[in-house]
Amino acid sequence: MAKLLEGKVAVVTGAGAGIGRAHALALAAAGAKVVVNDLGSDRHGAGRGSQAADEVVREIQAAGGEAAASHETVVTREGVDGILWVAQSRFGGVDVWVNNAGILRDRTLLNLTDEDFDRVLEVHLRGTFLGTQVAARAMRVQGRGGRIVNTSSLSGLLGNFGQANYGAAKAGIYGLTRVAALELERFGIAVNAIAPLALTRMTSDLEMVAGASVDELGPQFIAPAAVFLASPLSDGITGQVLGVQGGKIFLYRMEMTAGVEKDAASGPWTAEEIQAAWERISA
Ligand SMILES: NC(=O)c1ccc[n+]([C@@H]2O[C@H](COP(=O)([O-])OP(=O)(O)OC[C@H]3O[C@@H](n4cnc5c(N)ncnc54)[C@H](O)[C@@H]3O)[C@@H](O)[C@H]2O)c1
Repeated sequence: MAKLLEGKVAVVTGAGAGIGRAHALALAAAGAKVVVNDLGSDRHGAGRGSQAADEVVREIQAAGGEAAASHETVVTREGVDGILWVAQSRFGGVDVWVNNAGILRDRTLLNLTDEDFDRVLEVHLRGTFLGTQVAARAMRVQGRGGRIVNTSSLSGLLGNFGQANYGAAKAGIYGLTRVAALELERFGIAVNAIAPLALTRMTSDLEMVAGASVDELGPQFIAPAAVFLASPLSDGITGQVLGVQGGKIFLYRMEMTAGVEKDAASGPWTAEEIQAAWERISA
């Protein structure tokens, strides 16, 4: 029986560790040829090395799969073009692109430096923009559709103390995903996002995962969502944000209340009227 992603080529950014590594292993196990991208930084974005990506490539090959490494950064267009080039030159194209690379530089808003803000926005939001655009252009030329899977976070969707830079980036990825899904549907390209919660080096000291074990909250719980969104099993699904936290799967949605409408002929709402109607507006 053919595997779910037989004949497909998948790129995973930041695949040298954590969730990206789990995505790469699972996509390869489902039959995809995988480009394992990682520039090998620490969790704050410092340092570089080829070891992380190379090691995951070896793991995939040892399990009988096909993979190639890319050590480029997702922050520059040259870097992202370089990732695509590995997919094209080694495997003949790209069908699935998972924007997963990320770093953290947590500080409360009042203590955040310009540098902390810019570096985090660069890797997550600019990296996801570049990956989405480069992948979509290649997929449009190939003419056989494609799948783009982005990575958001509850920090951007609901808010999380101490993560103004990261939350802004992850909320931006939500907006990018929604717009890209609308624009790329006509080319048969689906764009969805995963908002994971998993025990990795990025979260190992966060309060929200304190006490959890890898067995109950490891990256292996997130990867099947990437396989689902990469495969024909999710045909017709686009613009969605899949929350995965251990054994729990759900959707994040932007909420609009039913609201209150007043007769436009009576003029705009006054501030006092808004206060008086607040309970009904927010219900
Ligand atoms: N772990 C969680 O609970 C959680 C929650 C919400 C969102 N996320 C998101 O999931 C993704 C993966 O996170 P993780 O927990 O596996 O972290 P991780 O630190 O284990 O892995 C991130 C990987 O990205 C790589 N990377 C960093 N900058 C890069 C760049 N410029 N170019 C290429 N690669 C780069 C790193 O070298 C690292 O291997 C991130 O986008 C993160 O924001 C994670």
